[in-house]
Amino acid sequence: MRDEHHHSVDTTLTDQTMRMSFIDGMSRVATSVTIVTTDGEAGRFGLTVSAMSSVTADPPTLLICVNRRNPMDAAIRSNGVFGVNALRADQRWVAETFAGRPRRGNPYDFQAGAWHIENTGSPLLTGAVAWFDCVMIAAHHVGTHTIAIGRVVAAGSEPGTPLIYGRRSFGELVQLPTNNEGASEWPYPIWDEPDL
Ligand SMILES: Cc1cc2nc3c(=O)[nH]c(=O)nc-3n(C[C@H](O)[C@H](O)[C@H](O)COP(=O)(O)O)c2cc1C
Repeated sequence: MRDEHHHSVDTTLTDQTMRMSFIDGMSRVATSVTIVTTDGEAGRFGLTVSAMSSVTADPPTLLICVNRRNPMDAAIRSNGVFGVNALRADQRWVAETFAGRPRRGNPYDFQAGAWHIENTGSPLLTGAVAWFDCVMIAAHHVGTHTIAIGRVVAAGSEPGTPLIYGRRSFGELVQLPTNNEGASEWPYPIWDEPDL
């Protein structure tokens, strides 16, 4: 039986095929790149994370997804605080450092950037296009990962264009129009949109 609310499962797709389709689809979903940090009794850690989202502005809340095998997971849950730093396009090497595979320097070395502290003690990256200082309010295990939800207690931003990750590569946005004249140069005019 199949209707709008009860989709039948295609049993010709094995779990492994479904997993590959999921990974391939997600590789095409472009995201900003963040460095998630924490500091406290469990120690100081940083990790490159693309799985970050706003949850609500009332009150200011965001979420991140961290692999439970990564030491960052236990550290965040123990410290109870974390920082989220959205990288600027020219900070790609910071992303590589905190993904554990820098071309130069040492993996996970905080010398890859300059850091400042606000409320929670979590390191916040100088030059990041946006940073959010968070107190963890909930953590949910889902499969291999932990969804950590943070109440934002301090936030700031700096000029610059964000670093983007998609198709397993780093990239950069082209400049978006900043005035109404620019809007007429948009490559996808609204009158070409198909009826949905
Ligand atoms: C662009 C990018 C985004 C990533 N996003 C996440 C993420 O959202 N959550 C996560 O747990 N790991 C994420 N990782 C992986 C970690 O940064 C890190 O590379 C990995 O945990 C290292 O594992 P390994 O030491 O087993 O290789 C990402 C890595 C890259 C390069």
